[in-house]
Amino acid sequence: MTKRTPLIIGNWKTNKKVDEVYEFLHEIQGKLPNVKQVQVGVAAQDVYLHEMVKYSESLGLPIGVFAENVHWADDGSYTGETSPAALADIGVTGSIVGHYERRKMFKETNGSVGLKVSASLRNGLTPIVAIAEDTTRYNPDDVEMAPLTEIAVALAGVEKSAAHRIVIAYEPAWAIGATEAPSSEIIEHSGRVIRQSLAILFSQDVADKIRIQYGGSVTPDNAKSILNLPDIDGLLIGRASLEPAAFLKMVNAAT
Ligand code: G3P
Repeated sequence: MTKRTPLIIGNWKTNKKVDEVYEFLHEIQGKLPNVKQVQVGVAAQDVYLHEMVKYSESLGLPIGVFAENVHWADDGSYTGETSPAALADIGVTGSIVGHYERRKMFKETNGSVGLKVSASLRNGLTPIVAIAEDTTRYNPDDVEMAPLTEIAVALAGVEKSAAHRIVIAYEPAWAIGATEAPSSEIIEHSGRVIRQSLAILFSQDVADKIRIQYGGSVTPDNAKSILNLPDIDGLLIGRASLEPAAFLKMVNAAT
């Protein structure tokens, strides 16, 4: 079995002003584990990304800077979009693609997610492909269907040789911004179904290399038990990632 390095990413969404961004990065300086143990990233609004890359480098922070969305074209006439080539140019590590909030509020589809995944890979970015069953509560049948449809369409254009570079983030809609995360049984079941879907799409060998994150109401209290699940290799954290001490606790839970 391939050993997968855990990946912990804070998704700041549209929170934080520039001073708070600097303060956060300064606060975690010298407190992150070795990247061989756990990889760490922060996803923020595009307007901050270049400064974040430069400031992290100046602090010697072992952290990846991620976008929260990316366009599917490298350049051209797409007013208001941020191209994957531009993100790569400023040293961004990757991008979240197809977050539930983008699917729900900005009409992102599996088709557009697929184009963005390919564009990310083409430009050397790591796509964090967010998938979720879009229901208001847990239904085991949805967990079977979401990977089959969302993964199959979104990853249809991905070459088998590049598939190991993808990260999948399982974020059930009903657990995002909620009061508590699903049970370990539900999360592990979803992780297993997702990995089976990846094995069907690529191969078991490739599926064993792809990291699957869990996201939705992760906190310092539940991070460890979620990370202990065999098919879960990391966390995509919203609210609890905004405060440096809490973020560090969840990072350290992966060591
Ligand atoms: O991408 C992470 C996010 O959607 C989960 O948010 O606040 O429930 O951790 P939160």
